[in-house]
Amino acid sequence: MKMENPGNLILVIFGASGDLTSRKLIPALFSLKTQKLLPEKYAVIGIGRSQSSDEEFRKKMKESIISFSEDKNPDVGQIENFTGSLSYLSMDELSAESYEKLKSILAETDIIYGTDANYIFYMATPPSMYESISLNLAKAGLAEESSGFRRFIIEKPFGYDLESGRKLNRNLHELIAEDQIYRIDHYLGKETVQNLLVMRFANGIFEPLWNRNYIHRVEITSAESIGVEERGGYYESSGALRDMVQNHLLQMAGLTAMEPPSSMESNAIRNEVLKVFQSLQPIREADVPKQVIRGQYTGSTIRGECISGYRYEKGVAPDSRTETFVAIKFFINNWRWGGVPFYIRTGKRMPTRVTEIVIHFKRTPHHLFQRENGLLTSNQMIIRIQPDEGILLKFDMKEPGSGFNVKNVSMDFHYKDLADVRVPSAYERLLYDVMLADSTLFSRDDEIETAWKFIEPIQKAWEKNHEIKIYGYPAGTWGPANSNDLIEGCGLTWRYPCRNLTDDGLYCEL
Ligand code: BG6
Repeated sequence: MKMENPGNLILVIFGASGDLTSRKLIPALFSLKTQKLLPEKYAVIGIGRSQSSDEEFRKKMKESIISFSEDKNPDVGQIENFTGSLSYLSMDELSAESYEKLKSILAETDIIYGTDANYIFYMATPPSMYESISLNLAKAGLAEESSGFRRFIIEKPFGYDLESGRKLNRNLHELIAEDQIYRIDHYLGKETVQNLLVMRFANGIFEPLWNRNYIHRVEITSAESIGVEERGGYYESSGALRDMVQNHLLQMAGLTAMEPPSSMESNAIRNEVLKVFQSLQPIREADVPKQVIRGQYTGSTIRGECISGYRYEKGVAPDSRTETFVAIKFFINNWRWGGVPFYIRTGKRMPTRVTEIVIHFKRTPHHLFQRENGLLTSNQMIIRIQPDEGILLKFDMKEPGSGFNVKNVSMDFHYKDLADVRVPSAYERLLYDVMLADSTLFSRDDEIETAWKFIEPIQKAWEKNHEIKIYGYPAGTWGPANSNDLIEGCGLTWRYPCRNLTDDGLYCEL
């Protein structure tokens, strides 16, 4: 991370009694504190509806740091010192009157801490509250940047579809400028996602190969082993397409496919990602069944443990048609990628938690060597986003001995082998960047809308055409088997980093 101290500020967290605050935001802030990356003078005000005193809030946040901090033995003195700067305000975020009180508390806190009237507002609330909170802040005069800066952080989902995404942007723009808005896509905060830029644009060896002449196909998988857990209610109205594809997966595709930016300036990078989104070949509604496979996990037994199907999860309708798995084949219509299929898939209750980008290179034009099992392989570069972050290159070598037996081998780089380098958490990086006003790793309004535009025909086809199947897949497997039908080419399948859990146990190739 950059090692400069941001300017003094107050961070206001709406939704402070929620999970995001205790599991991610506060531990990330504490980690920045231990690295001396917080401003010299700062304060954090948590806002929620539930009643709590400052002391109770501090105690709860101390416990969160102990439970969720990446440092397994956080220093108690440092925790005390950090939580001393936290306070709590119980208020109804939807009532305009409460904001006068917030305004006076901010002014008082500013005097006590000397924070130069700089405020960051973090909306860790349900998305339906973003507009009202912003409006109330604006009405109270808290959005104007006359005395200090005002930054607004909002969490995905940014809308529900193209129309609501546009409306949210429009309404926010009536109150605040685009450069005051930081839309969090926490995948962009992941170190290995950012490393895509360095890997592609700091190394001369990849660029000549990174195009339709040498790449056969690109595969992006983001699999989770957990189900929807306590989030059934939210997930029912979201599904994998909105929850993961419209944002995280398309952003990863954007960084994989983009042209070199003219500089590392935030808009230079975001312009290139936007161009990729604008070049996505629209999927016609009629082609959705051919290019998109959706699935929903069903109950299964994994090593003797009964796992419930999605329809039995809390908050989920017993006849739900919400997808917990989606796989899409699409093309990027530009000079670099014309004709190269991109495959993306994501799912819950899969055999393991893994996010990876697989670049499948074309085979040699003439096959001189026969492999023992008769199968021809091609070179693959596997960019492992998580876990065990790193890069794996697979290629063929001669097996020692007589003849020319060919064996597929791997060259493997693990981020953890970089001695003494601690990989910062996504939220740590993103919070720090907002404090420094660096918006490179945040989604811009036009990116969001263009991504929704690509997703829209899929949403419409599913809404209108109930004939389009949703396939069940047993929890602990790689999704509906026919997701392999998407992959063009005889005998080709998705890469499976490990076997189905419902088979004979787990083994990983990673
Ligand atoms: C969130 C989704 O954005 O990303 C969740 O809402 C998902 O459903 C999560 O579990 C995955 O994030 P990560 O960092 O664990 O891969």
